[in-house]
Amino acid sequence: QSLRSAVGRGSSHLARRGYSTDAVPERKVAILGAAGGIGQPLSMLMKLNPHVSSLSLYDIAGTPGVAADISHVSTKSEVAGYQGEDELGKALEGSDVVLIPAGVPRKPGMTRDDLFNINAGIVKSLCIAIAKYCPNALVNVISNPVNSTVPIAAEVFKKAGVYDERKLFGVTTLDVVRAKTFYAGKAKVPPAEVNVPVVGGHAGITILPLFSQTSPKANLGDDDIKALTKRTQDGGTEVVEAKAGKGSATLSMAYAGALFADACLKGLNGVSDVVVCSFVQSNVTELPFFASKVRLGKNGVEEAIGLGPLSDYEQQGLDSLKSELKASIEKGINFANKS
Ligand code: NAD
Ligand code: LMR
Repeated sequence: QSLRSAVGRGSSHLARRGYSTDAVPERKVAILGAAGGIGQPLSMLMKLNPHVSSLSLYDIAGTPGVAADISHVSTKSEVAGYQGEDELGKALEGSDVVLIPAGVPRKPGMTRDDLFNINAGIVKSLCIAIAKYCPNALVNVISNPVNSTVPIAAEVFKKAGVYDERKLFGVTTLDVVRAKTFYAGKAKVPPAEVNVPVVGGHAGITILPLFSQTSPKANLGDDDIKALTKRTQDGGTEVVEAKAGKGSATLSMAYAGALFADACLKGLNGVSDVVVCSFVQSNVTELPFFASKVRLGKNGVEEAIGLGPLSDYEQQGLDSLKSELKASIEKGINFANKS
C-alpha cells in the first residue's frame, strides 16, 4: 500500500493535499519597468504568488538591486534581474505572462493622454521585443494611456504576425478595486464581499462602473451612485493630487496588477470560471477595444461577457464615453502604423 493512499484514507483533506503529487505548472512571469513605483511592489507581490516559478525583472536601470533584494524572500520562485536593452531578450524568453508597468506617470494637471508622447514609444518598443522573444505570452499592459497603449500593442503584434487577441489585456483592475472600496465604504459592507463590474476604458468618463449590477446590493440613492461613479472615474486623479508631483498610484496599482496577473495564471493553469474585467479586443460594443468582464482560460480570453442590463444613468454614461474612447483607440492605431 502506498504512503499516499494510507495517508489519504484516514486523514483530513489538508493532510491529503500535503501528499499530493499533482504537477504544478512552471510559470515564468516577466515585469518590464520592474524598478519603478509600481514595478517594485508588483515584483514583490508576484514573488509571493505560488503560481510563479520564475520571476524576471527588467528595467532600463536599477533591476539588479531590486532582484537581489526580492530574491531573499523565502518563496519558491527564482528571481533574475535584467538591465538595459541588451538584456531584454533574456528577460522575456520563455515568459508565460508579461506585465508592463514601464513608462512615465502623471503629475497634477495632466491627463493620461498627456503621457502618450513618451509612453507610446516605450510600449511599442517593448512589444516589438515580446513579439520576438515570447510571442505566446499573455501581455498585461499597465502603462498609460491604456486606452491607446493596448491598441498600439495590438498593431505591433499584427505587424510581427503574432497577434492573438485573446492574449492582450489592458489592466483596468484598479478601477474595479476602487469601485469595490468606495461602494463598500458607502454601503457599510466588507469590501472583499463586493462585486462590481467596471466597463469602457481607463481614463476619466471612459471608466464606467456598473453599480446597478453590484452584489451584495445595498439600497443607495441616485445621488450616492452618481458620487461613487465620479469618485471611481477620478480615483487616479485623487492620488495624483495627493502625491503632489511625486507620481500616481503605485501601491494600490501593484495590488490590482498582482490580482489581474494571478487571474491570468489561474486561467492558464486551467482553473475554471475565472472572470475579471479587462480592456480587450471586443465585440461587446461597436468599438474595437472595450473593457468588460472576460472569462479567462488556457489561451487567455475565452469570452468577452456582454454588459447586461444597464440603468438609464449607466446607459447615458456608455453613450457619452464612446467618442472619447474611439479617438484614443484610433490615436494608438495611427501611432503604431505611421512610426
Ligand atoms: P515610475 O516612473 O515610478 O516607474 C516607471 C519605470 O519604467 C521606471 O523604473 C523606468 O525606468 C521604467 N522604464 C522607462 N522606460 C522603460 C523601458 N523602455 N523599458 C523598461 N522600463 C522602462 O512610474 P509608475 O508610477 O510605476 O507608473 C508606470 C506607468 O503605469 C505610468 O504610465 C502610469 O500612468 C501607469 N499606471 C497605470 C495604472 C492603471 O490602472 N493601468 C495605474 C497606475 C499607473
Ligand atoms: C490610475 O488610475 O491611478 C492610473 O491610471 C494613474 C493615473 O494617472 O491616474
